[in-house]
Amino acid sequence: MDVHTAIRERYSVRSYKPDPIPKDKLMRVMEAARLAPSATNRQPWKFILVEKQKLRDQLAEMARNPFVSEAPICIVAVCTEKDWMLSSGIHAYAVDVAIAIDHITLAAVAEGLGTCWIGDFDQEPAMELLNIPEEHIIVELLPIGFPADEPKAKKRKPMEEIICWDTYS
Ligand SMILES: Cc1cc2nc3c(=O)[nH]c(=O)nc-3n(C[C@H](O)[C@H](O)[C@H](O)COP(=O)(O)O)c2cc1C
Repeated sequence: MDVHTAIRERYSVRSYKPDPIPKDKLMRVMEAARLAPSATNRQPWKFILVEKQKLRDQLAEMARNPFVSEAPICIVAVCTEKDWMLSSGIHAYAVDVAIAIDHITLAAVAEGLGTCWIGDFDQEPAMELLNIPEEHIIVELLPIGFPADEPKAKKRKPMEEIICWDTYS
């Protein structure tokens, strides 16, 4: 699948089949994260593949979203260097980890899998649940599995609203 097709076909999957993800598919998806770029190539991330049902149920509660535990795996994207700033004043980790997550979401589509970014969850209890060192931070939860729902038409701003040329207008 070419990248444009994967971008068009990706959508937030909010219902999953219980079918397990074949290991080779999952590892190809995670390879896309491993190859993601990051500022000065620091790769400030760790991805916890949460498979145990009880842990997924608890994460789903912390995210107030039952579909988080419906998916056979919930990827927990952890930043391992949260204080590092780019000279531009931007927190590097939010950018770096988001790129890796986006690679995952697109590679998942190529494998027939679906994902949904989950940014609405309780940080502290989730850190504690998964034994994540306190100097780290969870950037997103990402349930992944075979979709049991259908995509809706994408609602996006028109091109002329989001681009301008040469100076801001
Ligand atoms: C950083 C981020 C956080 C998000 N958090 C949530 C979330 O907590 N719960 C949820 O159901 N969707 C969440 N989403 C999914 C967005 O609602 C979704 O991407 C957007 O509405 C566009 O729809 P699409 O992904 O189907 O194209 C999040 C997306 C991003 C990028």
